[in-house]
Amino acid sequence: MTTTVTRDEFPDQIHDEVHSDESATYAAARERSAVLDQLIDEHAASDSSRFRMLTGDRPTGPLHVGHYLGSLRNRVRLQDKGVETFVLVADYQVITDRDVVGEIGHHVHQLVLDYLAAGIDPERSTIFAHSAVPPLNQLVLPFLSLTTDTELRRNPTVKDELALTGGRPLSGLLLTYPVHQAADILFCHARVVPVGRDQLPHVEQTRAIARRFNQRYAAGHSVFTEPEALLSDVPLLLGTDGQKMSKSRGNTINLRDTADQTAARIRGARTDSERRITFEPIARPEVANLLTLAGLFLGEAPEAIAERVGNGGARQLKDVVTEAVNEGLRGHRARRAELERDPGFVSTVLREGNARANEVAERTLATVRAVMGMTY
Ligand code: TRP
Repeated sequence: MTTTVTRDEFPDQIHDEVHSDESATYAAARERSAVLDQLIDEHAASDSSRFRMLTGDRPTGPLHVGHYLGSLRNRVRLQDKGVETFVLVADYQVITDRDVVGEIGHHVHQLVLDYLAAGIDPERSTIFAHSAVPPLNQLVLPFLSLTTDTELRRNPTVKDELALTGGRPLSGLLLTYPVHQAADILFCHARVVPVGRDQLPHVEQTRAIARRFNQRYAAGHSVFTEPEALLSDVPLLLGTDGQKMSKSRGNTINLRDTADQTAARIRGARTDSERRITFEPIARPEVANLLTLAGLFLGEAPEAIAERVGNGGARQLKDVVTEAVNEGLRGHRARRAELERDPGFVSTVLREGNARANEVAERTLATVRAVMGMTY
């Protein structure tokens, strides 16, 4: 993070400054995250807006156990500590890398069901969607003026996502979505952004935009505060085939699956031919992944589970994992089923969240206009 501070001293050098050394940035971000977590523990209850948090998801399909363990649980934990929480359904991000919107309404509805079932409380947290908050989107225009095409083209996450589209031309929306994401974060003056490692470049970009806005348009006044990434300490989970978890590979365990579907998916999971179960992430990634999954639900070290299963082999390991996942998700799934009976509720939650987000965004946009002298 010290590199960031140095950048402040060169306000006009906006070229190429954002993405320097990825692993050094990651190490620094991890350290900073640990400190941030501690600060939240100490102060969130008495000063909830100090750590205002914004996170979001693209509504592209069902959430899976990776989302649950890696982000949903953590959001709820922070909300319950008293952190003021904004949760964004990032619907405009869906069309960054595909030609069709698809069943967006359905995906949004399903996503909000998982938020609510996981314990995000619409009384305390604001759940809203991009497309329903015009003043948030308008912030993208002044923010684009603070960003160069070079830094966007160099953004490693944008590059990765473009590579995954298999030769699709780079759309203007994919190129500029980090700026849109800055608007997501800055419209509500969020200070804390819980993200995975892949999203760090976007938080850096957001920090640069906040800083440049203050310097160029606000005579150095702090209109926007630079947010901080809060990194998840949950290890990356693989799909049941040992590859990256992804909907299109059919290797996920979805939150909305039934206990039987979950059992079937785990039964079909890839393992290896060694009978004795041990936790060796490098040599035995598929077995290690199953142990990690069970460990996260059971709150136990994967090594301890491996020890317990021992010579029971893959079959017994899978029984343990199935039991852990189904038990761990029992409450979530029951609440989800209950909420599903009242489709009007999700609509109400979104309507109210959108209204709240619009109020906040209008205020921010009014400040931005005033600071830029654009009040006529
Ligand atoms: N890009 C994020 C993802 O793919 C979703 C997202 C949109 C987001 N806007 C955000 C995350 C703002 C954090 C902050 O998961």
